[in-house]
Amino acid sequence: MSDTQAIPTEIKRICCIGAGYVGGPTMAMIAHKCPQIDVTVVDINPQRIAQWNSDELPIYEPGLDEIVKEARGRNLSFSTNVDQGIDQAEMVFISVNTPTKTFGVGAGRAANLEYVEKCARQIARVSTGHKIVVEKSTLPVRTAEAVKRILSSGETKASFQVLSNPEFLAEGTAIDDLLAPDRVLIGGECANAIESLVNIYANWVPRERLLTTNLWSSELSKLTANAFLAQRVSSINAISALCEATEADVDEVARAIGTDSRIGPKFLKSSVGFGGSCFQKDILNLVYLCEYFGLPEVANYWEQVVAMNDYQKRRFVTRILRTMFNTVSDKKIGIWGFAFKKDTNDTRESAAIYVCRDLLLEKARLDIYDPKVPQDQIKRDLMWALTDQGAMSSEQAQAAIEENVRFADGCLPSATDAHAIAVLTEWDEFADVDFQAVHQVMKKPAFVFDGRNVLKDMDLRQLGFDYYGIGF
Ligand code: UDX
Ligand code: ADP
Repeated sequence: MSDTQAIPTEIKRICCIGAGYVGGPTMAMIAHKCPQIDVTVVDINPQRIAQWNSDELPIYEPGLDEIVKEARGRNLSFSTNVDQGIDQAEMVFISVNTPTKTFGVGAGRAANLEYVEKCARQIARVSTGHKIVVEKSTLPVRTAEAVKRILSSGETKASFQVLSNPEFLAEGTAIDDLLAPDRVLIGGECANAIESLVNIYANWVPRERLLTTNLWSSELSKLTANAFLAQRVSSINAISALCEATEADVDEVARAIGTDSRIGPKFLKSSVGFGGSCFQKDILNLVYLCEYFGLPEVANYWEQVVAMNDYQKRRFVTRILRTMFNTVSDKKIGIWGFAFKKDTNDTRESAAIYVCRDLLLEKARLDIYDPKVPQDQIKRDLMWALTDQGAMSSEQAQAAIEENVRFADGCLPSATDAHAIAVLTEWDEFADVDFQAVHQVMKKPAFVFDGRNVLKDMDLRQLGFDYYGIGF
């Protein structure tokens, strides 16, 4: 595919296609740590690029602003000129979205690789000389095969090496994860190409944390890591249902099992359900791959992780309904938090979307407060959820949102005259609220359903609330 001798191992210019939650922070960190490398992030979305070039970055991530401002204008730039970005770079990262397919073969499971394929075609068309193409987006195993074929077909004047370098950062802690990663994984076939990427990360990551594998192991490791992490959450959530039935306390159980060094304490926090752009998508992707390769037992095994998560979200709403005398119709519920976890403005697959949808279908009135998620985003998410699978027509969904969704600019206004509060994201500020004041402004009985167990130590029952958490 290429004359590997000609591949430089010291890269001077990088282009990243896709200025999203992964591409933006990752490239900002490379630019920050490698002032000798020019980093250009390109995107077809002009609004996103304008935001990256402004003081209001498109994503909220603690510590990101400082790093972007330090490097922007020096060796970090954001542009909509995708062709030029590719042309000038020796190494091109593909960091575009790979959502779950919503149509055709594999709908609801397989990854939609349309955007990745378009990038590969554009790279093939624009490039001259040697280029290293790095898959950063999470992709099904053997996608590199497709990318390689596209790059080597047609009239391209260039030669390519393809690397897989999956991202393991978690939103909300992206900057710390990028600064001190547990490992950086680089899969490839050409030693020089691998070395060139290793050399970039070696500017700040200890060499022993730079793992190199073959292409396919790298692609599969990303899906496997996310499947294992999500499985832990689903496992503890399954136990939370049993705890509620038996008067055990899921946090005590988690602490007890987490001290076993073989199990470990992390990722055992029971919740209203995991969300985010990766877990569900990657597991469904894994399930699809297993089915494709004739492994239905393996597919069924992993599918249960998602099924358990769906059950946990439904179970939360069912508990609200049962507790509130089997009806929430025309009752106001203060929704605290809409992001899929704290310290991010990302709502992709957030449990809040599904909980709010089900409450709206029960005709509850919602007053939503999230410190970082814009109202428009919440409306878009609810619109999608209410119309998905024909639950409502778009006119009905629009009317339901207009009539029954309000937005508050703080916890207290959200709780005012509310029959209940549902905590759906674990924002730290929720623990600093004056709960005596909250109790005063709520209708009685004042119900609190804590989907994150963040108010567990606040003695809410002592203050007169009817307090329910997860798994106790
Ligand atoms: C995840 C992976 O952690 C990361 O390595 C990968 O690159 C992308 O996917 P992210 O989705 O950003 O990252 O966040 P993560 O911290 O993993 O949380 C995912 C979801 O699980 C959140 O909704 C979170 O609230 C939930 N969760 C996590 C729990 O409910 N309990 C836990 O103990 C941990
Ligand atoms: P992730 O969480 O994986 O970073 P995002 O959806 O946040 O995903 O970001 C992906 C970005 O990729 C979006 O800003 C989108 O506009 C961009 N994108 C998708 N396809 C292309 C393409 N062909 N060329 C340039 N940018 C693209």
